[in-house]
Amino acid sequence: MNVVFLGPPGAGKGTQAKVISVERAMPHISTGDILREAVAKGTDLGKKAKGYMDSGALVPDDLVVAMVAARLSEKDCAGGFILDGFPRTIAQAEALGKNLSGGGLALDMVVYFKVDDEQVVERLSGRRICRKCGANYHVQFMPPVVEGKCDKCGGELYQRDDDKADTIRERLQVYYRQTADLIAYYSGKGLLVEVDASQTPSDVTDAVRAVLAAER
Ligand code: AP5
Repeated sequence: MNVVFLGPPGAGKGTQAKVISVERAMPHISTGDILREAVAKGTDLGKKAKGYMDSGALVPDDLVVAMVAARLSEKDCAGGFILDGFPRTIAQAEALGKNLSGGGLALDMVVYFKVDDEQVVERLSGRRICRKCGANYHVQFMPPVVEGKCDKCGGELYQRDDDKADTIRERLQVYYRQTADLIAYYSGKGLLVEVDASQTPSDVTDAVRAVLAAER
């Protein structure tokens, strides 16, 4: 099954993609994670992407489209995938459609994580991530057992640079300017399924499981 998780920053796309990816043995392709890794490693892509990411802007389409095309051509994607954070513009969506149809494939579903702006700000400002294994926490909603330490590996928890108040506001603006049009775009193609992402993490997981199960 080829699925896109769409929604505003902080809607919980990554949290849910991690769970569903394990349950369904589908690779979780997060463009944000791939870009952050490129920045950390100081690759050419990372050097080009850093400034955009730090300010909350989108990385240019050509860079991201090429990066995703390379990832989708890897063997583990042949049986299906979850795309998290891509596409984010109509141009990216069109490029994805072309890429898939070139290989005789198509998207099966776009899951839209609906949540309001207040919750976005609350979730992003409290998000903490493990430096070692990438596990995701929230100081209030999904706290670790020991403050500042990862439950899974004991690694140090940190706050993403773009989870600071000013950058969160900018990311939300960017979402409404450049990404929200994809809701109508995919709805028009009959692919969009909405999930109420304002619920607790486990209730959102149940909702996502239900919509995916209805497809197959
Ligand atoms: P990216 O990393 O994709 O950021 P994002 O889309 O802004 O999404 P987030 O990772 O912030 O949120 P999420 O929905 O995954 O929420 P999460 O599950 O973590 O992109 C970062 C940057 O990279 C972009 O700004 C851009 O520069 C660049 N980029 C990436 N893709 C690009 C593209 N396609 N084109 C161009 N540029 C691109 O949850 C958030 C918090 O809430 C966590 O703390 C979690 O524990 C908590 N939480 C989750 N679910 C719940 C719940 N149900 N109730 C309470 N708390 C919850």
